[in-house]
Amino acid sequence: MRALLAADRTAGFGGLAVRDVGHPHTAENDVVVRVCAAGFTPGELDWPGTWTDRNGHDRAPSVLGHEVSGVVAELGFGTTGLTIGQRVCGLTDWARDGSLAEYVAVEARNLAPLPADVDHTTAAALPISGLTAWQALFVHATVRPGQSVLIHGAAGAVGSVAVQLAREAGAHVIGTGRADDRDVVLGLGAAEFVDLAADGLDSVGEVDVVLDVIGGDVANRSAALVRAGGTLVSIAGPPENTPRDGRALFFVVEPDRHQLAELLERVRSGRLRVLVGDVLELGDAVSAFTRRRRGKTIIRVDPQGTAPS
Ligand SMILES: NC(=O)c1ccc[n+]([C@@H]2O[C@H](COP(=O)([O-])OP(=O)(O)OC[C@H]3O[C@@H](n4cnc5c(N)ncnc54)[C@H](OP(=O)(O)O)[C@@H]3O)[C@@H](O)[C@H]2O)c1
Repeated sequence: MRALLAADRTAGFGGLAVRDVGHPHTAENDVVVRVCAAGFTPGELDWPGTWTDRNGHDRAPSVLGHEVSGVVAELGFGTTGLTIGQRVCGLTDWARDGSLAEYVAVEARNLAPLPADVDHTTAAALPISGLTAWQALFVHATVRPGQSVLIHGAAGAVGSVAVQLAREAGAHVIGTGRADDRDVVLGLGAAEFVDLAADGLDSVGEVDVVLDVIGGDVANRSAALVRAGGTLVSIAGPPENTPRDGRALFFVVEPDRHQLAELLERVRSGRLRVLVGDVLELGDAVSAFTRRRRGKTIIRVDPQGTAPS
């Protein structure tokens, strides 16, 4: 099968190539998914799991991409709950070969059934951004109605989902970004927009929760905005500053079938918009890693899921 391979840690983007590789191995409780569409994160080349397995052993060359939407093609030993031919989407293991390939092996529990009225392109854009936003707001920060939530990078993949979820949860949402993100962020339901370059953070006042996707100076300055009992939750890296009377934490998103099903239900009922950017073929996956566009870039592998398994 064809897949996007990253050759080794030192080669960077120059080590990416679409090549023929072996068919994935199904372990216990796995399924093999025939990939219809896949999502990736440009920063994957810096992630430990891209280069080493869970025992710390070198696993390069590695297949990139960890978001998949497709059709179940094989069941592993003992796998229950999913059936061959079923439409599914989900998040694949960081330390295993990924979804920028014709087939990917995934633990069945990491996948959610994909409703017939959600297309594979949209579904492939949802697992990382959707689960990250959900876990940040509702698992780590426990946002409640009436609270104020400051969401940095609110026009980006994670931020745009977070704005919509926080607003639906009854929060007062303040989104930040660059000047030309304003209309997108307000259109997603934020009550206020802050242009980080022009306005800075001084005008924001105290908030209950900050979701930071940018890190560095933005994260450092945000700690002081968190009111007593509040939370600064970052996905960019461990925060250096902690709120005076609150919590600061960093987490890495985890697969969760139930949360993904909740997100998919919001997509199919029109309550959640996923911002998809470019949609490219697997042969264009190398260039997809290096270009920067608004919205999540999705790689179509077998768009209809029609190839023989
Ligand atoms: N820990 C985890 O589990 C986890 C999960 C998902 C993502 N992440 C990480 O979180 C980060 C965000 O992910 P994402 O997928 O949401 O990325 P994204 O789609 O690129 O969104 C980031 C947004 O922040 C904006 N931004 C960045 N720096 C800015 C600045 N200085 N001023 C104003 N706006 C700025 C970007 O604008 P431009 O596009 O114009 O730069 C973009 O709109 C990435 O580093 C990603 O690797 C971590």
